[in-house]
Amino acid sequence: MKLINVVGARPNFMKIAPIMKACKASRAIEPLLVHTGQHYDEKMSDLFFRQLGIPEPNINLGVGSASHAVQTANIIKAFEPVVLDYKPDAVLVVGDVNSTIACGLVAVKLGVKLIHVEAGLRSFDRSMPEEINRLLTDSISDFLFCTEQSGVDNLINEGIPKEKIFLVGNVMIDTLLDNKVKAKKSNILDQLNLNGDDFAALTLHRPANVDNPTVFGRILDALEVIQNDMPIIFPIHPRTRRNLKSFHLDKRFEELPNLQLIDPLGYLDFLKLMISARLVLTDSGGIQEETTILKVPCLTLRENTERPITAEIGSNQVVGTDLARITEGYKQALNSHLQHFEIPPLWDGHAAERIVDILLDKLWGNKIVETQSVTVQTSILHKA
Ligand code: UD1
Repeated sequence: MKLINVVGARPNFMKIAPIMKACKASRAIEPLLVHTGQHYDEKMSDLFFRQLGIPEPNINLGVGSASHAVQTANIIKAFEPVVLDYKPDAVLVVGDVNSTIACGLVAVKLGVKLIHVEAGLRSFDRSMPEEINRLLTDSISDFLFCTEQSGVDNLINEGIPKEKIFLVGNVMIDTLLDNKVKAKKSNILDQLNLNGDDFAALTLHRPANVDNPTVFGRILDALEVIQNDMPIIFPIHPRTRRNLKSFHLDKRFEELPNLQLIDPLGYLDFLKLMISARLVLTDSGGIQEETTILKVPCLTLRENTERPITAEIGSNQVVGTDLARITEGYKQALNSHLQHFEIPPLWDGHAAERIVDILLDKLWGNKIVETQSVTVQTSILHKA
């Protein structure tokens, strides 16, 4: 059974790691790993492969950064010959980045089955490039694997046939649970001169927040207040670093003594940072889920979330980008008692195994039966 697994950007790597493992363990699937090269820096890509034990990609398309149109088009152009050459039974894409929709389109146009892992999530905000990628990928997929019930409900509301939708849990959480013990051994707290848990961790990279100087400045106002209270550690995304300079906000950052700006961290160091933090501030999607399982309070610096279960369960507050709402959320987070919050159903470390089992049954079930019957017939012939 030939399957192409696609990765492109940083959040894809922790999703593909358990899927590659489960494919290999099944011994029935031959996974080919294709990296589009959307992310390429050591700290945005290679480091994650090493730390998560993901095999070297069989093919790297090396597309790099560009505008949305050019990047998507370059991935499409480079991926088509790979599919034509390898002739897979299916292509599996994860998440909502440009690599996801680009490779998905190539697959379906060549008549190859498309599998989308992390299907159905919706922010209902079409100004987010990821929302467009999610809607389009889901609409052309043959197998849609969801992390939470809202994903299933959204897909059904959009008219996707029920038979294509499977609630399997969260592959990103598979990776987190698999690496928690290793992460605890990271010495990142010493490196950053942090004692105990009295600090906040921050990530920020959404275009709506960091490509707009007014919004970016407003978030900075709130960070200024919080850093008066506790240190903030900010591993900064390349997009954010570039904009910080071009909007001349770097001076303001320098004036905040308790806001520590550092290079992007590897998976294990960042996990250790989250495990140890008093709270996390972020505009990432995946981090809302990771803090949920870790029971660390999270303030989401956006007006919406495509992962509503994290807010329903209570570990996550969606506070937007206004000074008053962020600081109010901060006070509430300090007083929350998260140990009472539940873990979303099926976030148990076995999502990738469920995905592979379903694929073996529903996608390749017929093929396995065919192969078995051929074997039986051949042995009968031999006896005769
Ligand atoms: C992409 C995803 C986003 C995801 C994020 C995680 C899309 C539309 N967006 O956004 O959903 O949350 O990845 O990081 O696919 N750059 C580097 N080194 C790299 C990669 C990027 O310096 O290895 C810089 C480049 O200047 C590039 C910019 O970061 O132009 C943005 O990278 P890009 O992949 O276009 O989008 P992200 O903001 O990373």
